[in-house]
Amino acid sequence: MRTITVAVPGSEYPVWIGSGALARLRPFSRSRGLPTKVFVIADARVAKQHGDRLRAELDRLAVPQSWILVPPGESSKCVSMLDRIWRTAVRSGIDRGSLLVAFGGGVIGDLAGFAAGTILRGVDFVQIPTTLLAMVDASVGGKTGINLPEGKNLVGVFLQPCAVCMDFDFLSSLPPRELRAGWAEVVKTAAIRDPGLFAKVERNAPAVAAGQLSVRSLAEIVGRSVEIKASVVAADERESGLRMILNFGHTLAHGLEAANAYRSLLHGEAVAIGMVFAARLGEELGVTRSGVASRIDSVLAASGLPTRPRGVSAASILSAMQRDKKRGPRGLRWVLLEAIGSTSIADAVSPELVSKVLRRFLSEGATESGRLDSSGARSPSTRKGLR
Ligand SMILES: NC(=O)c1ccc[n+]([C@@H]2O[C@H](COP(=O)([O-])OP(=O)(O)OC[C@H]3O[C@@H](n4cnc5c(N)ncnc54)[C@H](O)[C@@H]3O)[C@@H](O)[C@H]2O)c1
Ligand SMILES: [Zn+2]
Repeated sequence: MRTITVAVPGSEYPVWIGSGALARLRPFSRSRGLPTKVFVIADARVAKQHGDRLRAELDRLAVPQSWILVPPGESSKCVSMLDRIWRTAVRSGIDRGSLLVAFGGGVIGDLAGFAAGTILRGVDFVQIPTTLLAMVDASVGGKTGINLPEGKNLVGVFLQPCAVCMDFDFLSSLPPRELRAGWAEVVKTAAIRDPGLFAKVERNAPAVAAGQLSVRSLAEIVGRSVEIKASVVAADERESGLRMILNFGHTLAHGLEAANAYRSLLHGEAVAIGMVFAARLGEELGVTRSGVASRIDSVLAASGLPTRPRGVSAASILSAMQRDKKRGPRGLRWVLLEAIGSTSIADAVSPELVSKVLRRFLSEGATESGRLDSSGARSPSTRKGLR
């Protein structure tokens, strides 16, 4: 079990990482003074699988607890669900001394974090992420929020949790495809900041594809990813500079997600494709060292992640990217790699070049899928990972 401390201006909190990390919650709550009540905002699927364990742990605090179950899925990150949480919590007697617990993936973390930041002008909250993506990315850093019909994550607040509890035992029920999607954010973190972690990720890619990553490797890799995210967030909590590098792969990914109307691709899968594309674009611009794109492509493919878009046109991706809220004043903003471990931001890339590289990229996807279809998928788990 490891503890990493995240320090941002004005707040400092522990992240517990490993099997059995949940046991840290009780002594921590006692040491900082017990809350008056605990409100658990839980993904309904996670509550069904693992709710008894968390309930038993909280029972031992001997503080009244209320559970609010949220239907699984991105569509729960909305104003009407927030309204339901606010009103249920108020009717159940929430006060300023209450603690809110987010129990689920990134959807629950973002939604419950926003509820905690707004109800009664703010109550304490703890994150218990239950997906790999929420562990390595969403639960650390203090971004919370919900979606609008007009776009993702358009309303929210920055609010740091009091603690984050990453207990690997909860991952036992996570579908393999969701695990791989979270792994894409691990690859991203390594690619932008740490050649040593990237090499470790390369060594473990086949185990991820086969669903056989050891707990020991997971602990090392999650721990290092959290350290990196924490250091980036500590340097730039409000995303005015450095934090932008966490968006490596995300410019194309957001376009792909919007063009697919959030249906066929998981976020991490879109990021996987987006990273290969950004590396290609960087090589075309002479910013990215030659060979980096194929290294990224190989590690993602070996992990059982998609690396090319399917069934979507260049025109629809390009127009969806133009609507992205992360545009800079000079146009779309690209996080590019110089090499594995170092980045550079470009916001004046010519749209014609993006379009040219994208069309080539899409045609490779078409060729690759033809080849895979005639000769079978690369491996059974790769096939399982692609809908
Ligand atoms: N705040 C941030 O900094 C940040 C960063 C990255 C992503 N996000 C947000 O996170 C969300 C994506 O997170 P996610 O990938 O965790 O999605 P998610 O919360 O939708 O979880 C994915 C699926 O896994 C299921 N699930 C969760 N834990 C499980 C478990 N242990 N066993 C079985 N099933 C389980 C859920 O029911 C859901 O169907 C997006 O809304 C994204 O915007 C936020
Ligand atoms: Zn992401």
